[in-house]
Amino acid sequence: MTQDVGIILNGVTGRMGTNQHLERSLCSIIKDGGIQTTSGNRIMPRVTLTGRNEEKLRALAEKHGQATIGEPFPYTTDLDGALNGKYGEHEIFFDASSTLHRGTFIEMAVAAGKAIYCEKPTAVDTPEAKRLAQLVDQAGLKNGVVQDKLWLPGFLKVRSLIDDGFFGKILSVRGEFGYWVFTGLDGEPPAQRPSWNYRSEDGGGIMIDMFCHWHYLINNLFGPIHRLVAYGNTDIDKRSNETGEPFVCTADDSAYAIFVLANGTVCQFNSSWCVRVRRDDLLCLEINGTKGSAVAGLRDVYLQTSEQTPKPVWNPDVEQPIEFLDNWQKMPNENEYENAFKIQWQDFLRHVVLGEPWKYTLQEGTKGVQLAELGMQSWKESRWVEIPGL
Ligand SMILES: NC(=O)c1ccc[n+]([C@@H]2O[C@H](COP(=O)([O-])OP(=O)(O)OC[C@H]3O[C@@H](n4cnc5c(N)ncnc54)[C@H](O)[C@@H]3O)[C@@H](O)[C@H]2O)c1
Repeated sequence: MTQDVGIILNGVTGRMGTNQHLERSLCSIIKDGGIQTTSGNRIMPRVTLTGRNEEKLRALAEKHGQATIGEPFPYTTDLDGALNGKYGEHEIFFDASSTLHRGTFIEMAVAAGKAIYCEKPTAVDTPEAKRLAQLVDQAGLKNGVVQDKLWLPGFLKVRSLIDDGFFGKILSVRGEFGYWVFTGLDGEPPAQRPSWNYRSEDGGGIMIDMFCHWHYLINNLFGPIHRLVAYGNTDIDKRSNETGEPFVCTADDSAYAIFVLANGTVCQFNSSWCVRVRRDDLLCLEINGTKGSAVAGLRDVYLQTSEQTPKPVWNPDVEQPIEFLDNWQKMPNENEYENAFKIQWQDFLRHVVLGEPWKYTLQEGTKGVQLAELGMQSWKESRWVEIPGL
């Protein structure tokens, strides 16, 4: 038996909505023939696209609908109508609009009694994130927030290393995230990210964007965070927007933080949209343990055990005799890895349809927003900040 699940995809014409959620997750699941359940049944997504711009929606519905189901996906600018059954029944509302609109859309979906799934951050401050989490909980609605990095092949491999005891005691974690986001000015190409990311009045800023990810990644892999010290900066103060107009950047585009975990592990994360990459990947985690270390990118992981660890001696007067990169071993791929967003969608759909366990709720998403907000507090007040319970 195939069970259809109606999903409203809102803010779907944006970068995340189109690439990750529509194309690489839901279209891919539909092309797979749905999600196979243990009882031999299938869960089949049936998507309706919503947003503000009819032209963009039509083009997207045509392109991806034709390629996926042989006809355009249904679409409408009438979100209220979609939520209230005017265009067929939908069990799930998903939102990938820019962050400041999340609250309004979630309120509408709660009023319509939908299960709710949305992009992170759920809000730009803790009280609002908490309010939204309480709203869905009080209405008794199933709910979730995107925490995609947990399913990236590189970090799934780290999870298995931790479970196998590869590291011994984990001493420290260094996260290096970032790449050069073009300014669109002074002869540079247009930016490869939306311009609102660089305006705090529009919900932008790298701390609110990335600390949500660092929260669930650290919490799920290495343990709960006890306190942090952070610093942010606006390295580049002028960029050009989607229509080529220059604008003043009001949000942080680089952020530095030390997170000390309850178990004593020190995690130091640098995040920047103003750095050029000379490392394995756009995000690399270097994990150092008593018995071994690993450097994990988005897909690949390199390992060094105690036995493979070279014994350097400081002497800048001679050419470095050790090839440091030679003493690392690439971890083999033991599985075919699916897109991380797709895996989380499959789990959420199983949770909604079959009631399977799920822990990535709006309540969990609130903790990421809280970490970002406390990071900003630490930065503004130049001090360590403890993480209180919610
Ligand atoms: N999980 C991740 O790794 C990840 C990565 C990047 C962004 N995000 C999050 O995803 C969300 C979208 O980011 P993006 O990079 O796709 O941005 P984007 O600017 O490309 O897309 C935003 C979308 O929101 C829509 N929108 C804006 N205002 C609206 C309104 N008033 N009514 C209806 N729709 C409106 C836009 O039309 C567009 O479709 C943000 O919350 C962002 O923080 C998550």
